[in-house]
Amino acid sequence: MKARSRSTRIAAQLADLKMPGALEALDEVLAGVDGGGTTAAEAIERLLTAQITLRNSRRLATAMRSSRLPAIKTLADFDFSFQPSVKREQIDSLHELGFLERKENVVFLGPPGVGKTHLAISLAIAAAESGRRVYYGTLTDLIDSLEEAEAAGRLNHRLKTLTHPALLVVDEIGYLPVTRSGAILFFQLVNRRYEHASTVLTSNKGFEQWGEILHDEVMAAALLDRLLHRCHMVNIRGNSYRMRRHLELSKAIHPTASRAVSAERSEHGGTR
Ligand SMILES: Nc1ncnc2c1ncn2[C@@H]1O[C@H](COP(=O)(O)OP(=O)(O)OP(=O)(O)O)[C@@H](O)[C@H]1O
Ligand SMILES: [Mg+2]
Repeated sequence: MKARSRSTRIAAQLADLKMPGALEALDEVLAGVDGGGTTAAEAIERLLTAQITLRNSRRLATAMRSSRLPAIKTLADFDFSFQPSVKREQIDSLHELGFLERKENVVFLGPPGVGKTHLAISLAIAAAESGRRVYYGTLTDLIDSLEEAEAAGRLNHRLKTLTHPALLVVDEIGYLPVTRSGAILFFQLVNRRYEHASTVLTSNKGFEQWGEILHDEVMAAALLDRLLHRCHMVNIRGNSYRMRRHLELSKAIHPTASRAVSAERSEHGGTR
């Protein structure tokens, strides 16, 4: 009876302190203590761990909503054996997030489907889990939002907002056409973030084609100069993960022909 009234009092205190994670774990933790299998210190640790776990998962859920990440892709889901050109040590080390402290950038280059967006998102998720602000956009999305802000006389405010996150993902540089004025806005964003916060970029085009993408060789050179000053390069060469089933199927049906296709893809697959 006394024990029950104590557990009721603790439950009320946890509710008062707004500790729902600990409150949910309370009965089980107290049962462990009553059964003699859990020491008092272990019980306190378990309650606090339950609360911290819930808080962290809520933080991540909030970050996921505000960051506009299109999907959840993690390092654990990435199959390194499918993409041997990706060095596991480099990707593991990037996921330790030292590059964020040093305000360094990361660029993923490679043909379609090789995992550029996957790895960019998994870095953003790791950063969000560590409590950092992250934001995701394709180059087109980001330029659209800057153009809208400029038209509404709020460009400076939008640039400030996009400079704030510790990690900004700029995905899909090179797929959709960019106007010259859009490219100038993007240059301003890169300029603001330079040495202030990290940017993770993905592109299917080699740097020598960025002048064409941005309609201005001189501006592209200045942009690359800033981006590459402190930058980790991940050049992915290989087959599209999206096509792996087709590849497996064609290997089964035409073993010799598919070997030739595969060899040709990996020869031309890297960014030029
Ligand atoms: N090595 C891998 N292991 C597991 N899943 C992978 C791997 N590579 C890619 N994928 C998955 O394949 C799909 C395509 O990958 P992703 O979108 O990252 O490619 P991408 O390089 O960004 O291509 P694109 O240039 O067309 O945007 C995604 O669902 C991704 O999660
Ligand atoms: Mg992509």
